[in-house]
Amino acid sequence: MKNSQFDTFIDRRQSASIKWQKFDKDVIPMWVADMEFATPTVVTDALKTRIDHPIFGYTSAPETLVQSVADYTANRHGWTIDTKQLCWIPGVLSALTAACNISARARNSASGNLSSSDEIIVFPPVYHPLLEIPVKTGKTRVDVPMVYTEGHDNTGSWNIDFELLESSISDNTVAILLSSPHNPMGKMFSTSELNKLASLSAENNIMVISDEIHCDLILHDSNKHVPTAVAAAEHYESVITIMSPSKTFNVAGANCTFVHIPNPEWHALFQAEAHYTVPHVPTFSYTVAEAAYSKGWQWHSELIEYLRSNHDYLHTAINDIDGLSMDRLEATYLAWIDTRELKIDNDKTNDFFAHAGVGLSPGSQFGDNNFQRLNFACSRQQLEEGVKRMRVAIANL
Ligand SMILES: Cc1ncc(COP(=O)(O)O)c(C=O)c1O
Repeated sequence: MKNSQFDTFIDRRQSASIKWQKFDKDVIPMWVADMEFATPTVVTDALKTRIDHPIFGYTSAPETLVQSVADYTANRHGWTIDTKQLCWIPGVLSALTAACNISARARNSASGNLSSSDEIIVFPPVYHPLLEIPVKTGKTRVDVPMVYTEGHDNTGSWNIDFELLESSISDNTVAILLSSPHNPMGKMFSTSELNKLASLSAENNIMVISDEIHCDLILHDSNKHVPTAVAAAEHYESVITIMSPSKTFNVAGANCTFVHIPNPEWHALFQAEAHYTVPHVPTFSYTVAEAAYSKGWQWHSELIEYLRSNHDYLHTAINDIDGLSMDRLEATYLAWIDTRELKIDNDKTNDFFAHAGVGLSPGSQFGDNNFQRLNFACSRQQLEEGVKRMRVAIANL
């Protein structure tokens, strides 16, 4: 593999990195979804320029950023948006919370009924806040587990169980929460799956909340992310879309999220819900987002090339270890590793790997303790060291 800017090890231990604080210092942290890569210099340069203006007061989304986002959705996702339908909020989790909070009111104002047991449907295993937020916002969470179809040579796929979904929709269902592409399985949903989901939701007057934070981490050139709103076609208004530059450009600490809400009533409810409960997007975060979306794409194409190479290496290396297996991912830098064949109690697997010097995310967090999630967005050298530690520890079992 040729040399790459992403080969450089950057010591983050003095930067209060949550990722590096969790485990002992000799453990390689491969859990939370941020990358071991320097953000593009176009972003750091833009920040330096912004700092030259010495007043950091309340700031709204600059027109130039709004235009960059419109260009981004059009050019990269074939989606022409009406920028008046956007809301800006610090973080995807805040957006998910606000959307879940308004989901019942949005539905009840349309139907005229008030229900005491509003339900939100999720598709586990899934990024754990999507399991927690419905409950935290006072709703009943209804699980529609993804189903696995075996394939040849570790090419199995995870799919929505539409039969179960249909039977799980009740008069109390107010929202469906989707992670697209799906974290942790790295699945991309097809236009027809998304259209079916949106049609079902629209028929039942249900809000689809589509978290698309991983939409720019597509590992194959021939695949294209389809925004749920685009796939929804005539049901466009039933979809709330949440996007952010944080995974794409490794700026998770910047928290600049945009939310597309075409239904005017829901848009107003969302704005009112976020008012006071979350702060404005920080001044510097707008700067980060604008620089990234307008000038970060050369860096991004090199990133995808590196991630793809890491993915291919990891896929082979993990499947060569007795007791572990993983399927190819379509998107994200988060490998979903099946540990069922290991001779370890599932609930102890995460500790076993941490003890071996590799800090993973336990699958139980996402709703399936047969798996461990491994973040491979790091230098190849670090990734190979992590895999070696896993291999040696398993060999010594
Ligand atoms: C699917 C998904 N949604 C949301 C987030 C968190 O987003 P934010 O940090 O903007 O709140 C993550 C982070 O890993 C994620 O994977």
